[in-house]
This record gives sequence, structure tokens and C-alpha cells, in this order.
Amino acid sequence: MTLLNLLASRSSRMKASEIRELLKLLDQPDIISFAGGIPDPSLFPAQAIGDAYQAVLGGKEAGTALQYQVSEGYLPLRKWLAAYMGKLGVQCDEGNIFITSGSQQALDYLGKLFLSPGDTALVTWPTYLGALQAFNAYEPRYDRLNTAGGNMTPEAYRAAAAVNGGKVKFAYLVPDFANPTGNTLDVKQRETVLDLAGELDIAVIEDAAYRALRYD
Ligand SMILES: Cc1ncc(COP(=O)(O)O)c(C=O)c1O
Repeated sequence: MTLLNLLASRSSRMKASEIRELLKLLDQPDIISFAGGIPDPSLFPAQAIGDAYQAVLGGKEAGTALQYQVSEGYLPLRKWLAAYMGKLGVQCDEGNIFITSGSQQALDYLGKLFLSPGDTALVTWPTYLGALQAFNAYEPRYDRLNTAGGNMTPEAYRAAAAVNGGKVKFAYLVPDFANPTGNTLDVKQRETVLDLAGELDIAVIEDAAYRALRYD
């Protein structure tokens, strides 16, 4: 018996992770790889993280920390994040916050929520490989999002999506220090994306992985 015959059709779109393949180069001593974003381990705040664990597990909250929680995540953290988003100009409360294990789980949820097979996701070319990998499982097609302008008309995007049997569902982009280009969108480019999304009546998924890494 081979389990391969039993796999769902979407599994055929799940290729070996390009990111994992890139990271394999790290094991080769003669290669200094710039391909994956691998932080310098000497910069990890090991002491601070150790102290934080000790403070929680050695205190009154240990039981709460180790107990099951609601799927949305730890309420005090969600409240803190809602206040943080407020400072960034995004008015929300803890009901709008959902904690995930890294971005990959969030991107997977978003693909699951929005994409039926054949639906269209708008992405910049190139874009973050991890996002494509997460979305691929939901069998979308991709169309090109030009953040500098020169996009197709909303009608043309819709028509192309319909030819492929679906609808345009969202635009995914990394507006600050994009992976892999390093590109940051100016206000006008952000407005261009928002205008297009408004005309298409689609969601915008902003991957702000690097926004806080601004030094000036
Ligand atoms: C655009 C972008 N989003 C997300 C991630 C990964 O984020 P996380 O470590 O939270 O999974 C990366 C890492 O390379 C990235 O470049």
C-alpha cells in the first residue's frame, strides 16, 4: 500500500520548501549564506528570555501560563497588542487580535479563510516565498501587483480571475523592507495599492515583518 495514492489533490502543489532548501546551505562550512534571514545567535536575548520564563513559571501565574487557553491567545497579550496597534494608527481592540505561532500559521489561516481553488491572489513579483508556500495549499492563481503603478484595470483583473474560474480575493504585500527586494513603499505607492483594493473590493494582507527595523 502506498499512502501517496491517498493524498488530497492539493498535496501535489506542496513542493519541498524552497526556504528549507536554502537553509541547507548553512551546514556547509565554506559557505556564508545570505539567502535566508538567519540572525546572529550572539544577539539573541537569551538572558532576558530566561529571566522572563523564570518570572512567570516561578510566580503565581505559572498555572495560567501552562494551562489551555482560548484559541485567540492570552487575553492580556491581545490587549497589549491592540494598544500597540492603536499607536500605529490602527484602531482595534482585543477582539481583533489573534495570536499565531509565527507568520506561517497566520498566512495559512488567511489562505484557508479567503481562497477557494482557482481564486486569485495579487502579489508583487517577486514576493516572500513563505507566503506563496502557505497560499499554494489552497490552490489559487496569482496575478501581478505593481506597487509603482501600471497595474491592470480592476475590470481586467476581474476578467482574468473569472477566466480561471474564481474571484480576486486579496492583495498580499510587504510594504516595509520587502523580502526579497528590500523595497519600501512610499505613501503614494501605498495609496495606489489601497485604491486598487478599494475598486476591486478585496482585502489587503499587510505583512509587516520588518516595519520595526527602521533606524532613522
Ligand atoms: C516578509 C516576511 N514575513 C514573515 C517572515 C517570517 O516571520 P516569522 O518568523 O514570524 O514566521 C519572514 C522571514 O523571512 C519574511 O521575510
